Amino acid sequence: MATIPLRLPGHAYEVLIGPGVRTSLAGTVRRLGAARAVVVSARPAEWVPDTGVETLLLPARDGEDDKTLATVQALCGEFVRFGLTRSDVVVSCGGGTTTDVVGLAAALYHRGVPVVHLPTSLLAQVDAAVGGKTAVNLPQGKNLVGTYWQPSAVLCDTDYLATLPPRELRNGYGEIARCHFIGAPDLRGLPLAEQITASVRLKARVVQADERDTGLRHILNYGHTLGHALEKATGYGLRHGEAVAIGTVFAGRLAGALGRIGAARVAEHLDVVRSYGLPTAVPAETGTQALIALMRHDKKASGGLAFALDGPRGAELVGDVPQEVVARVLDAMPRAPLAALVDPVTAGAAPC
Ligand code: GLY
Repeated sequence: MATIPLRLPGHAYEVLIGPGVRTSLAGTVRRLGAARAVVVSARPAEWVPDTGVETLLLPARDGEDDKTLATVQALCGEFVRFGLTRSDVVVSCGGGTTTDVVGLAAALYHRGVPVVHLPTSLLAQVDAAVGGKTAVNLPQGKNLVGTYWQPSAVLCDTDYLATLPPRELRNGYGEIARCHFIGAPDLRGLPLAEQITASVRLKARVVQADERDTGLRHILNYGHTLGHALEKATGYGLRHGEAVAIGTVFAGRLAGALGRIGAARVAEHLDVVRSYGLPTAVPAETGTQALIALMRHDKKASGGLAFALDGPRGAELVGDVPQEVVARVLDAMPRAPLAALVDPVTAGAAPC
């Protein structure tokens, strides 16, 4: 088992990673001094360990469709009916969309109650559940409403991952692949638990340095500017990690076009993404101008187009990237039908 501490001003917590770590939930709840718990779970009841205190179990559904303000309102309504107070705790159990929406409900209810995350997907374990970002989507775009609300503990039980369908595992690999370009060692071929631990260790380091996304934390969004646009443009037909994978290949090409990295490093982006069996081509159904319009809505874009890009000083946020360069690089990306990109057999083999 690995324990990764995250120390922030006025708040510290641990991320536990390993088989069976969910059974430490009762001890975690006891340490928090919580009298009662609301567990919001997108997984069967038997996946949720005992909290050791009086508990209300609320079913939830993973997926972008339920990542809305309406879900936050419904959850908070249930908290009121249960009589949840700031001396209690909220527990999320599910994938990244569930940890995001439950984290936001915990942040807003009574101006903040403690939350413990039990991420069950690879994507949530390596990224979404760690670092305190919470958000819901609006019809206009993804993650447009949210706040920072650090959890009191994150229990990444790797036993949960054994049940994941191949496409869901691949979804998590998209976030692991982008770690290669933002400061992680080469993780390819390592046992999965080691890849999760290294990804979380990197994220903890970045979040400790820049909790509120004013500088360094932007690098965690490597591949995400195009990724978010692709998710939206495909009606979430691409999963987040798949879209980030394509966005990572694009980020390499864009950094190359801007003269920030050489051809070998551009090619490394493709190699790494492909080695995880992830898609590398842009869906043929999406147009360059539509994607650029969506990228202008990105939270990092204050006017111009902004991307986390590799370069001589490592990855950093680059603002005001000329639209014609973005368009040229996007136009030059290989295209493939969405159906082929999301098929685990053909995804990593998309033409380049
Ligand atoms: N997922 C990016 C971040 O947590 O900052």
